[in-house]
Amino acid sequence: MPAATPSRPRIELELHDVYKTFEMGGEPISALRGVDLQVIEGEFIAIMGPSGSGKSTLLHILGLVDSEYQGTYDLGGERVSGRSTDELAPIRNQEIGFVFQAFFLLPHLSILENAALPALYARDRAPDECLAEARTRLEQMGLGHRLDHKPHEISIGQRQRAAIARALINDPRVILADEPTGALDSKTSQEILEIFNDLHRQGATILMVTHDQEVAAAAERNVYVRDGQIHV
Ligand SMILES: Nc1ncnc2c1ncn2[C@@H]1O[C@H](COP(=O)(O)OP(=O)(O)OP(=O)(O)O)[C@@H](O)[C@H]1O
Ligand SMILES: [Mg+2]
Repeated sequence: MPAATPSRPRIELELHDVYKTFEMGGEPISALRGVDLQVIEGEFIAIMGPSGSGKSTLLHILGLVDSEYQGTYDLGGERVSGRSTDELAPIRNQEIGFVFQAFFLLPHLSILENAALPALYARDRAPDECLAEARTRLEQMGLGHRLDHKPHEISIGQRQRAAIARALINDPRVILADEPTGALDSKTSQEILEIFNDLHRQGATILMVTHDQEVAAAAERNVYVRDGQIHV
């Protein structure tokens, strides 16, 4: 009998020859220049590189936040390049958890409402259920006493945790985080890192932009971005 062949690891994200150019006052700015990247399901990758090298641009493309680029992108084996961000909204909502560099918590909503938003958008659960789920997750992150506060009424570290709770509420397979520990003291950043380590152990695919060597050391693989190109 032939020996059973071990199943091959699934490729979760794959970019091929991706170029991104911004226009500023008629001048083209080349932010990504021929990026190839393959990420296996369940990998935990740290993305590093100098300021302005293209890390956030890369993450926005991977997160389906930006669909204006050249090259191809396959997510879970499905071609997503060439489709509009509107068309991709349901995939983004269900499969991707995005922690933005600038948080983007909505200022007029409470922390609880902010964290519940992606679940409310998904419309597959009653609003009460979405809010209950958000409450549970915020409590797990030590924010149970700040549910009714607005983002400007809590600390940066607490905002970061609220933004992570929001990114995770739909149990995404892929988690993209842009410097989630950038503005934090070392104790809080250790706590945030522990949250990502847990998610990794549960099987999530994680790409995290970081300038912190300690955070990068916790990842399985480091990817360096320099002048819009990847150096592995
Ligand atoms: N909306 C935009 N319009 C014009 N140029 C942009 C825009 N966003 C980014 N850029 C330019 O593209 C390049 C890459 O920017 P990006 O934000 O990806 O860098 P980064 O590596 O994330 O930097 P940082 O570490 O400072 O966050 C930079 O030269 C930046 O000035
Ligand atoms: Mg950035």
